[in-house]
Amino acid sequence: MRPVILLENVTVAYNGEPALMKISFKVEEPSFLVVAGPNGAGKTTLLKTLLGLLKPIEGKIVVLGINVLKNPLRVRKLVGYVPQRERIDPSMPMLVKDVVLMGRTTKTGLGRLFTKEDIEAAKKALELVGLEEHWDEAFSHLSGGQQQRVLIARALASNPKLLLLDEPLSGVDALSQNVILGVLREMADRGTGVVMVTHDLNPILELADYILLLNKRVVGFGRPNKILSREVLSEAYNRSVDIVRVGETCFVLGGDSHA
Ligand SMILES: Nc1ncnc2c1ncn2[C@@H]1O[C@H](COP(=O)(O)OP(=O)(O)O)[C@@H](O)[C@H]1O
Ligand SMILES: [Mg+2]
Repeated sequence: MRPVILLENVTVAYNGEPALMKISFKVEEPSFLVVAGPNGAGKTTLLKTLLGLLKPIEGKIVVLGINVLKNPLRVRKLVGYVPQRERIDPSMPMLVKDVVLMGRTTKTGLGRLFTKEDIEAAKKALELVGLEEHWDEAFSHLSGGQQQRVLIARALASNPKLLLLDEPLSGVDALSQNVILGVLREMADRGTGVVMVTHDLNPILELADYILLLNKRVVGFGRPNKILSREVLSEAYNRSVDIVRVGETCFVLGGDSHA
């Protein structure tokens, strides 16, 4: 089977200072990949590299069978991106539908009227995150968790083949976290690639197909039950962590390096 993502010896640097060193991994369908690691580990850098927004100084990147370095624009058309902590200015009079419909412009370009097809795709995306009743509401009136779900709907509205999400669960209430994780699992099962960055592994240990532990280098990569060793996680987080098993569920203690 063609891999969804293939990286070979990818090194990315800012002004000569490497943020990612010799990263190699391969993900196949179903491909719910969770990327975890402390602040500054290069998680956001990895997403931008997958999108072709950053150019590695060495290595090979193939996304959806496309060489990202040769065809960044082709890749970007197929990929939905939910950036980290995006704030839409609360004083902007945006409606929920305006935000979701923005996702359609990546496919067809700005400066045209939305078609019936655009509106249907946007409505369907909003339905996937359980917020179809908020279509005509002001975006700023929604809770933080609901706003994050709308931003995910915006990415889904373009029917991406691969979805990249940067800490989508940060500062999000438990209900919205569950909805988001449910949608991502469903997308992955239906053949959409999902790459989700997180600093907290706990909510997703049981859901992920692959876990990548990153600390500039690949500290661990593989199926969740293989990766979850105390040694590997401690290295990824630069400090000691404990794993507690309750029934079938593993919990990571002390692994959250955010204040
Ligand atoms: N635009 C940039 N210019 C210079 N250095 C950067 C830039 N973006 C990130 N970095 C550095 O690269 C490293 C990785 O950053 P980042 O990918 O944002 O980590 P993470 O998302 O895991 O917190 C950090 O040391 C950060 O300071
Ligand atoms: Mg980041």
